[in-house]
Amino acid sequence: MTLSIRQLHPVFVGEVADIDCRVPLTREEIAAIDAAMEKYAVLVLSDQNITDAQQIAFTRHFGELEGYNTPGHVRKREDQRLGPGMADFSNLDRDGNIMSDEDRVWFFKLGDRLWHSDSSFRPVPAKYSLLSGRVLPSWGANTEFADMRAAYDALDARTKAEVEDLICEHSLIYSREAIGFTDLTSEEIAAFRPVRQRLVRTHPATGRKSLFLASHAGAIVGWTIPEARMFLRDLTEHATQREFVYSHSWKPYDLVMWDNRATMHRARRFDRNEVRDVRRTTLAGDATTIE
Ligand SMILES: [Fe+2]
Repeated sequence: MTLSIRQLHPVFVGEVADIDCRVPLTREEIAAIDAAMEKYAVLVLSDQNITDAQQIAFTRHFGELEGYNTPGHVRKREDQRLGPGMADFSNLDRDGNIMSDEDRVWFFKLGDRLWHSDSSFRPVPAKYSLLSGRVLPSWGANTEFADMRAAYDALDARTKAEVEDLICEHSLIYSREAIGFTDLTSEEIAAFRPVRQRLVRTHPATGRKSLFLASHAGAIVGWTIPEARMFLRDLTEHATQREFVYSHSWKPYDLVMWDNRATMHRARRFDRNEVRDVRRTTLAGDATTIE
């Protein structure tokens, strides 16, 4: 198969035509998608009316699903609406009702509206994420992506030298604290213990450097917290300038896949009284970012 791809943004993001995610891909098709991911970092696949099982099977073409014993969220397994392998990014509770605006799961989800890279708070951060839009609200709810390779390339030489060897500490505690959600249990605080990540990563396939930023980053090793937070905030502002950002306006059954090693993303506002049912599968990364 030769993939037919239309570039949706001047610096990254491709839209793949004529693909059916419900059926197994050939080895050539898998290689073509991986190559497109290396080039575009974000791919949009429209009209993919898939089941959870089909989403998992499609995802597994590109590696192993991320699996952890410690939670990346505050929802207990027995309170989850979806089965193993599926991450629920809807505003629905276990019974399919819109969750209360005082539900701490909802508070937690609000933190996804800050720029981040999935699982940067894990020792081995995620490779690709695949988000399937099943039911979308009538207004808002875009997902925005920022190209962190382009952001790195655009740094001045002095800043490139400054960031080259910096190590950051990432934790869900930092990103939730940023929106004033600090009501975490001692178990959650233990599970969300900060992990170290390089600020500059090199993509294993392309060799391109990128800024590995996320709102989960709350410290730089060897720096004071205020100095680190201000620098990270400045870098994030640089990296999310309009010229590096694509805003995806969802249609039902869009499947959007992105490389967390090369991009950041954030969710945008919508009317919380309307259903937003989006479901994510996540591929495990294959290495830590620090030696
Ligand atoms: Fe995310």
